[in-house]
Amino acid sequence: MEYEVLFLPDQKKVKVRPNTNVLDASRRAGVRIPTRCGGKAGCLMCKILVPDEERGHCSVPETKEIRKLGTSMMEQGYRLSCQTRITSHLKVIIPEDPLKAAIRKQLEAARNREPDDFI
Ligand code: FES
Repeated sequence: MEYEVLFLPDQKKVKVRPNTNVLDASRRAGVRIPTRCGGKAGCLMCKILVPDEERGHCSVPETKEIRKLGTSMMEQGYRLSCQTRITSHLKVIIPEDPLKAAIRKQLEAARNREPDDFI
């Protein structure tokens, strides 16, 4: 048996065996999720968003993941991809890198300025 995992916003799909973690699935799908701790719930870099309707399609968070992410992030749907095991067909969202998001916003703001703003 295999489950299909869909990675957004890239729309990349991969089929994996039950209990594969999302980080491993992303590598198989060619989706880049940053890591620094090697999948030990130590770096907090591998965050993903699991939409509300998908939360029953993966493992429940264990204590070390809850401690690492904190209640607020958990409530927003964040999970650590290295700790999240796939238990059904699943759709996850890879959040935009914060540095890239800041640069993108500045570029958009610059594009939207009137030409007179530059004089
Ligand atoms: S890879 Fe470091 S917390 Fe998941």
